Amino acid sequence: MATSDAILQVLSGAGPCVFRSNPCFRSSDLTFSSKLHVKCVKKRASRCMKMFKCSNVLQNGIGNHWFKGLGDRDLSVDAKIKKLHLLRCKGPQAERVSGVTEGGNGAWFVDGAKSLNLNGAVTGEQTDGFGVRDAQQLTREKEGFASNGALNQEKERLETNGAVGTGRDASPKVSVDPIEEEAWELLRDSMVYYCGSPIGTIAANDPTSSSVLNYDQVFIRDFIPSGIAFLLKGEYDIVRNFLLHTLQLQSWEKTMDCHSPGQGLMPASFKVRTVRLDGDDDSATEEVLDPDFGEAAIGRVAPVDSGLWWIILLRAYGKCSGDLSLQERIDVQTGIKMILRLCLADGFDMFPTLLVTDGSCMIDRRMGIHGHPLEIQALFYSALLCAREMLAPEDGSADLIRALNNRLVALSFHIREYYWIDLRKLNEIYRYKTEEYSYDAVNKFNIYPDQVSPWLVEWMPNQGGYLIGNLQPAHMDFRFFSLGNIWSIVSGLATRDQSNAILDFIEAKWSDLIADMPLKICYPALEGQEWQIITGSDPKNTPWSYHNAGSWPTLLWQLTAACIKMNRPEIAARAVEIAEKRLSRDKWPEYYDTKKARFIGKQAHLFQTWSIAGYLVAKLLLADPSAARMLVSDEDPELVSAFSCMIGTNPRRKRGQTNLKKTFMV
Ligand code: GLC
Repeated sequence: MATSDAILQVLSGAGPCVFRSNPCFRSSDLTFSSKLHVKCVKKRASRCMKMFKCSNVLQNGIGNHWFKGLGDRDLSVDAKIKKLHLLRCKGPQAERVSGVTEGGNGAWFVDGAKSLNLNGAVTGEQTDGFGVRDAQQLTREKEGFASNGALNQEKERLETNGAVGTGRDASPKVSVDPIEEEAWELLRDSMVYYCGSPIGTIAANDPTSSSVLNYDQVFIRDFIPSGIAFLLKGEYDIVRNFLLHTLQLQSWEKTMDCHSPGQGLMPASFKVRTVRLDGDDDSATEEVLDPDFGEAAIGRVAPVDSGLWWIILLRAYGKCSGDLSLQERIDVQTGIKMILRLCLADGFDMFPTLLVTDGSCMIDRRMGIHGHPLEIQALFYSALLCAREMLAPEDGSADLIRALNNRLVALSFHIREYYWIDLRKLNEIYRYKTEEYSYDAVNKFNIYPDQVSPWLVEWMPNQGGYLIGNLQPAHMDFRFFSLGNIWSIVSGLATRDQSNAILDFIEAKWSDLIADMPLKICYPALEGQEWQIITGSDPKNTPWSYHNAGSWPTLLWQLTAACIKMNRPEIAARAVEIAEKRLSRDKWPEYYDTKKARFIGKQAHLFQTWSIAGYLVAKLLLADPSAARMLVSDEDPELVSAFSCMIGTNPRRKRGQTNLKKTFMV
């Protein structure tokens, strides 16, 4: 029985489970006119109805649910035209999330049921990994950090520390250590405004950099830790605005040399540009949101991870703010579906993993991760789970939800079974027979044992294991990729045992992966001929630099969420302690170089926002582990039972006696 068939039978009754074409998901849906611009007119009233004007269009226009009650199908051509005429700019101030931020005193809501506060005091039932005991223990650790921070008092005063942000902080004052305080100031300095409302943070705010490139833009993936930090601080508006504006950009007509990528794609980044208006008044300007879907990016890489992160942040926003009205909006629901439709569309794939080109995620350059890289699979799984939680049940979505459920089980089975590696599995691969033509092949992907390279034999500890970087026919990429492994823990793509084993592995390989600055993006580096062939001799990705096994402090927040989920926060606390010794002193670099992360990266930008935000989120989560709930997903009992059914029907164990397809073997 094919994988997807088994899933279908468990989850949704008999019949092949494919994502059938559904009128609800026609590619024409929500395709706006090619000349649309997202604009905020500063001085003049609109001259053209075919414009999205100002951020408030989103909040006041569609936000009023003019389309409530309409199926997605109704949002086709007529509705699109109607929508364009309805969108109006109603002034610069963003709508506040009613009933959530007001009078909050730091109180915030998870699942609308439990009231928590920023100091880790929790009311309501606690579960493993989020317990009161941990919160108290971590508060003590936090006090320890504070004194560490005090030792760092000699740190330089940063020129960019202005008073920006004063008065914008709606959250209650919580005493923080000096490094955290500096980080908050820098994070606020990086905020980007559109029509007077905050909508994101720029990638880097480095006054020393001579080549800004696109680091003055708001990157979707870079904003995630910023967004989480703001959510943890009770500042929901910036996240809400970000989610709505990027949603608007999703509908943008995008082309590269006459080719349009799929509808539903989210941009890699966007910039707020101020442009001069035509006309008599020379000083009249307007603000325009200018997205980059990869058509301007170095290497023209596709930002596959953007939409997945967007869904993950949307769910976190709802969980943290308690404002579920955002995810319930018709336009937001449609946005979720467009992303899913793009990811779940049938192609030539043999595997349930998402097939992507090189550089389609955080590693956005040629690094030999084309195919089915773990990072994308972990984000994909996570986004599917989050979307399932948020999608409104309605007839029009039944096929999509069925396809989504199918994929979740098939994907987790595939990754858990075939990407997992530890000493035992490595030895199995080392002894693999090859060229097995049969349905019950053990070495399904025809992996040649010679691929087990000497570094790996030496490196694999007795305890622990990890998910490999990529799997293709006759190819296992044995490199350890941190984000993919960590997010597999956070999302539950890895089993509990695997998740613990990954953390065991990180502990066992501490001096390689954490070293002098957490966290290596991958291990080991590509060197020599391999580097020449795989990266194309990329001078930025030289061995032990940047994406080629450089160390990225931003990964701290994801590590922390994973450790908290597994009730092992002390691992993250140790890593944060190491980072804290240098981050502020080194001016918050984007990445570090060398095997042990001793140098600030060769071309690393300073005051890199996601290094700052990643650190802040790690600290905030350690101070209040219960807050990690907005990020993690627990194993769904339905999926677990479907998964065990899959194991039962695993061809490697059972195939042979009953499989009719065997008849066709030549
Ligand atoms: C680099 C990173 C990418 C990041 C961008 C902005 O291109 O590789 O992951 O989003 O910088 O910080």
